[in-house]
Amino acid sequence: MAGTLTAPNFRLSIPAFILLALLSFPSRVLSIGVNYDTLADNLPPPSQVVSFLKSKTYIDRVKIFDCNPDILRSFAGSGISLFVTAPNGDIPSLSRLPGACVWVAANISPFYPATNISLIVVGNEIMASGDRNLIAHLVPAMRSLSAAGFPQIRVSTPHSLGILSASQPPSSGRFRRVYDLTIFAAA
Ligand SMILES: *[C@@H]1O[C@H](CO)[C@@H](O)[C@H](O)[C@H]1NC(C)=O
Repeated sequence: MAGTLTAPNFRLSIPAFILLALLSFPSRVLSIGVNYDTLADNLPPPSQVVSFLKSKTYIDRVKIFDCNPDILRSFAGSGISLFVTAPNGDIPSLSRLPGACVWVAANISPFYPATNISLIVVGNEIMASGDRNLIAHLVPAMRSLSAAGFPQIRVSTPHSLGILSASQPPSSGRFRRVYDLTIFAAA
């Protein structure tokens, strides 16, 4: 996570995906996304976080690092677009369609579409974990989630720029060798 903004009484970290906001500047709509991280003490309840976001900020996209049902419920009807995370440990069971369907039935179906879930992110920088089992199941897990019954919800996976061998300028971006063919290439 990049820098942390400490609002009066809760913690939001400004993620790389604030880039989304920059990408949308040319259009007339301003869009700002933040990470909502819950690893801290004395956090306010999610409902208070949602009212804060709605009444005091332009933030309209929020990423959470799990599928906490209290948070998912609190964003219902807010219109805020939510990115939810399938945690690293769930990746092996998600790699087969029945596992992905069970996961979606527990973590997405009860809340969608009242809660505007627009993206499921799979794992959190799992390349950095060096865990071969998780890495091998990453793309299959993404495929199964895509096929698990919510075509409107996109599936993605977040990584550090360390997975690139070249990143400047962005148009010359390249995955590191091994990552490109072994992990991300379509089979
Ligand atoms: C859900 O979020 C998307 C942005 O990802 C937005 O375009 C859409 O209008 C939102 N839907 C609702 C019902 O608020």
